[in-house]
Amino acid sequence: MVSIAVIGTGYVGSVSGACLADFGNTVVCVDSDSEKIKALKQGIIPIFEPGLDGIVARNMQEGRLSFTTDFSGAVKASEVVFIAVGTPPAADGSADLQYVETVAREIGRTIGKWTVVVDKSTVPIGTGRKAREWIQEELTRRGAAIPFEVVSNPEFLREGTAVYDFTHPDRVVIGTENEKARSIMKDVYRPLYLNETPYIETNLESAEMIKYASNAFLALKITFINEIANLCEKTGADVQDVAKAVGRDGRIGSKFLHPGPGYGGSCFPKDTRALAQIGREHGEPVSLVEAAISANERQKLRMAEKIQAELGDLHGKTIAILGLAFKQNTDDMRESPAIAICERLAEAGAKLRLFDPAAMKEAEWRLAGIKASMTFAESEYEAARGADALAILTPWNQFRNLDLNKIKESLVLPYFFDLRNIYKREEVERAGLTYIGVGR
Ligand SMILES: NC(=O)c1ccc[n+]([C@@H]2O[C@H](COP(=O)([O-])OP(=O)(O)OC[C@H]3O[C@@H](n4cnc5c(N)ncnc54)[C@H](O)[C@@H]3O)[C@@H](O)[C@H]2O)c1
Repeated sequence: MVSIAVIGTGYVGSVSGACLADFGNTVVCVDSDSEKIKALKQGIIPIFEPGLDGIVARNMQEGRLSFTTDFSGAVKASEVVFIAVGTPPAADGSADLQYVETVAREIGRTIGKWTVVVDKSTVPIGTGRKAREWIQEELTRRGAAIPFEVVSNPEFLREGTAVYDFTHPDRVVIGTENEKARSIMKDVYRPLYLNETPYIETNLESAEMIKYASNAFLALKITFINEIANLCEKTGADVQDVAKAVGRDGRIGSKFLHPGPGYGGSCFPKDTRALAQIGREHGEPVSLVEAAISANERQKLRMAEKIQAELGDLHGKTIAILGLAFKQNTDDMRESPAIAICERLAEAGAKLRLFDPAAMKEAEWRLAGIKASMTFAESEYEAARGADALAILTPWNQFRNLDLNKIKESLVLPYFFDLRNIYKREEVERAGLTYIGVGR
């Protein structure tokens, strides 16, 4: 059992804190956002993440998990302090490290005994060493000679399945050259270690690179199949069959070969841009990643163009949009392709009727720029009523089994844009709808 403080209770910090408590550790989660902490203390989860409420409630009840805004108290009571604050993109594409630096310096101003500082935020290669300097500078300013270690322990969870991913990881990466710190990290993840989860023990820089390289590779895979899909449209091939057969090759694998409107979310867009920026800084351009970034931007706009190509002039037309979150089972709209697509359609004169099972609250401010062109519906069928077309942008389960006859009756024009390829053309056409997918 290890005493742990987790700084930042967003999508990663809240899940990490709850799951680390479930592993038997004593965990206190800290956030500077007092509203968030107030909610969490009452067992209210501020984000949509299936299964998180149960694990939080159980561990709070059993006295292993608590939430506070008291940074100093939490850090002083802990042997291990996780940094899980955001690293959003700065204007030049690089990762904005201001939150990490603030927390690292605060740790330096606070610790009173040997502490392991674990960076879980996704950060540019070299940040762990910088964090060490920031902490040391503050200790020196205090005139305190307190030893500490910095460890990089990147996180690979996916929103929507975060609790499962955290508790069943493909690997745990531990970047440090310090034996004592490595050993305490094994105690932190003890149940996983006993379950024979692979541990990758490496240095700080490699651990940081592993996270960027993993995300960039997945973004490349998505972009690759999107470009193949675009070519399928021009050549008469069906990308669904192509992806299925290509994915059966064990060397390639079937995951992340699903064509669609481009990748989004809080990680792939910002991490690919940060990696590209690191490459440029070091005079070693990561040209494949640079190409994927531009292709992904084109892919989003291509979706809007696809709709325009069928509907013609969008003035006076209404489009039902099903799905706003960047993927299913989350309320997160950070860099969701839906943003660029909705904005482009609104710019071209369309009225939008939006529905998402979890992300509409976030959509209110993320799409504030096109407020005059959009209304929210209470269901997928209400969105479709009287619209000239329907477009599925997020593959929520409830959109996979629509009553197509009802949709046909609701729409004025019969256009059905399946931008996640979750329907078979024949079943949609059987209902009298005009089917338009991606790459088929
Ligand atoms: N979201 C994901 O799916 C995911 C997956 C893997 C890795 N990551 C990485 O994890 C990191 C966190 O991502 P997230 O999605 O959880 O971000 P988030 O924006 O949801 O959460 C960050 C939290 O940190 C808090 N915070 C900021 N400054 C603070 C401070 N000084 N003291 C205390 N709390 C502070 C914020 O209030 C917020 O609650 C990022 O680096 C991200 O790239 C995210």
